[in-house]
Amino acid sequence: MAVPSGRHLLQIPGPTNVPERILRAMARPTIDHRGPEFRELTLEVLENLKPVFNTSGPIVIFPGSGTGAWEAALVNTLSPGDKVVMFETGHFATLWRGMAEKLGLDPHFVPGDWRHGVDPDVLENLLHDDRHHALKGVAIVHNETSTGLTSRMAAVRRALDRAVHPALLLVDTISSLACMDYRHDEWGVDVTLGGSQKGLMLPPGLSFNAISEKALAASRQTRLAKSYWDWKPMLEANKVGFFPYTPATNLLYGLRESLHMLREEGLANIFERHQRHAEATRRAVKAWGLEILCLDPAEYSSSLTAVLMPPESNADQLRQVILEQFNMSLGNGLGKLQGKVFRIGHLGDFNDLMLAGTLSGIEMGLTLAGVAHSRGGVAAAFDYLTQAAATRQRQTSEVAPA
Ligand SMILES: Cc1ncc(COP(=O)(O)O)c(C=O)c1O
Repeated sequence: MAVPSGRHLLQIPGPTNVPERILRAMARPTIDHRGPEFRELTLEVLENLKPVFNTSGPIVIFPGSGTGAWEAALVNTLSPGDKVVMFETGHFATLWRGMAEKLGLDPHFVPGDWRHGVDPDVLENLLHDDRHHALKGVAIVHNETSTGLTSRMAAVRRALDRAVHPALLLVDTISSLACMDYRHDEWGVDVTLGGSQKGLMLPPGLSFNAISEKALAASRQTRLAKSYWDWKPMLEANKVGFFPYTPATNLLYGLRESLHMLREEGLANIFERHQRHAEATRRAVKAWGLEILCLDPAEYSSSLTAVLMPPESNADQLRQVILEQFNMSLGNGLGKLQGKVFRIGHLGDFNDLMLAGTLSGIEMGLTLAGVAHSRGGVAAAFDYLTQAAATRQRQTSEVAPA
């Protein structure tokens, strides 16, 4: 393989490309995590995170990966043997179910085909039939990173309301936070889980729990064993700007910068940008004559697109050709999708020309790997991106002073 030149394109659906601004913000000396400068940093990031989750309640930050956020959400809100409804939307939902079992919970895993999100009617019926409220939690992966589908959270909330059921709602937004509209308070979510390495544009290493009052009250009674992930000492220390153990100081510098960047661009613009790149990608995939894994357009993900390979071709071979020839990483098929699917990440710090490069690399790779496809995917995406840019240009000139 030739020595790669230029920038590597990290088009897996997270970790995402880390912008220079964040890299530079992190490249500073580590400070005393019990001193006054650190206190200000903690208080600033905890406050500025709230609009990202759309909450006025507390958020805790753990040094840890998304898996830690899963564990924290479960161990703080539930007790041994508690029943939890979970939905088989893909690999990550399956892993979370496995964790629930290991922790001594009793998950009710609603089977799925990995091509559809959570069915709110199924949830409503389950809750409705649970007259004695044996179900203590509903745990949902908002954006299934393994399959590229997004469950409809507003409809999930309505299902819970219609069933008048007190189960706690736990939602994994690890690959949707700061990419798609998300409303912790309005949707009555009890714990929202996040991770640093996707829409927040940071390296991996931070995970989040946004906590409702109901979840906090529950956490005072629940009996699953917890220590590192216990919210209580974390919330107490956070009140005065500190952590109960050594925090990931330099990642917090990065988080502060990320939150500034999100505020400068504006969340509504960020969501629109993610939708635009997702739509352009889907147009390319359709023009290639390949199939999008997600079957319901209402559940298409704005963060990533999972593409099914023709049955005679292997996705990992295509990914290898693209990595070797064009210095770009694409996401692999996870679990039972291994070799059958490749995933295009279009989330985080990303723009039209980065997407154009990504799709160009895939189109060239499809030819080199001998995958049956039609040409014209890149052109279809270009047309869409050009139209979208023309609309933006018109709108800017309409609002500009004469
Ligand atoms: C939706 C979702 N949940 C959970 C995880 C697990 O997070 P981590 O690998 O950071 O532990 C991931 C990882 O990509 C994810 O995409």
